Amino acid sequence: MPDAVYVRDAFARIADRYVLANHVLSLGADVLWRKSMAARVSDKRPRRLIDIASGTGDLALEIQRRCPDCEVVATDFCSEMLDHAAKRGVRRTLVADALDLPFADASFDAATVAFGLRNMADYPSALREMRRVLEPGGHLWILDFSLPEGILRAPYRFYLHRVLPRIAGILTGQRDAYEYLGGSIESFPSGKAMERLLASCGFEQPSSTALTFGVVSVYQAMRPR
Ligand SMILES: C[S@@+](CC[C@H](N)C(=O)[O-])C[C@H]1O[C@@H](n2cnc3c(N)ncnc32)[C@H](O)[C@@H]1O
Repeated sequence: MPDAVYVRDAFARIADRYVLANHVLSLGADVLWRKSMAARVSDKRPRRLIDIASGTGDLALEIQRRCPDCEVVATDFCSEMLDHAAKRGVRRTLVADALDLPFADASFDAATVAFGLRNMADYPSALREMRRVLEPGGHLWILDFSLPEGILRAPYRFYLHRVLPRIAGILTGQRDAYEYLGGSIESFPSGKAMERLLASCGFEQPSSTALTFGVVSVYQAMRPR
């Protein structure tokens, strides 16, 4: 699993170009992925939500827009990323490690994490910490990369490992951070494997939905009542 010191440093280095690089490398699809997740979240009408590994705040901003009555707390352990979230309009930001959140048990009725869990040093510990801060019956949504099945798999992997790091290197000057990205996607559990992981960490009713031919997936699960 990823090394926390490397991850925090890598995001600090790319923070200023992160949003632009995302839009270019995904051809704008990252905006639609976060909107799709935010729509699922807003259907549950959350009152107090924690967006974990919020980074530059794209998902937190979309949830704030769709759920004006919800208190959204955006957390991340990289202050350079979170500074952008605050400047872009996220109302509440807090520098915090997802593996040791500074909140009491059952503080939130909803938790989200977009493209963050994959970067954490210990997936089960992170998921159990998310469960801890959720109240019974509270919902967790995870959005992250997965690998497409079938004939798209090979060309996508070629893009991921050979093309993407070159373009990202030009955009951000930090090619190594994007070489790390491909490896992290390869080793991240997806689909049924992620559902099993969620169940083993104490979540109920885990489900997954593949978006854009399986390039990303949305997972949903609930802390038992
Ligand atoms: C790819 S960015 C995703 C940012 C944002 N959620 C988005 O959708 O664009 C991953 C973020 O995870 C954060 N992160 C990784 N491990 C973390 C941890 N243990 N605690 C808090 N944040 C973490 C990084 O600092 C980075 O901002």
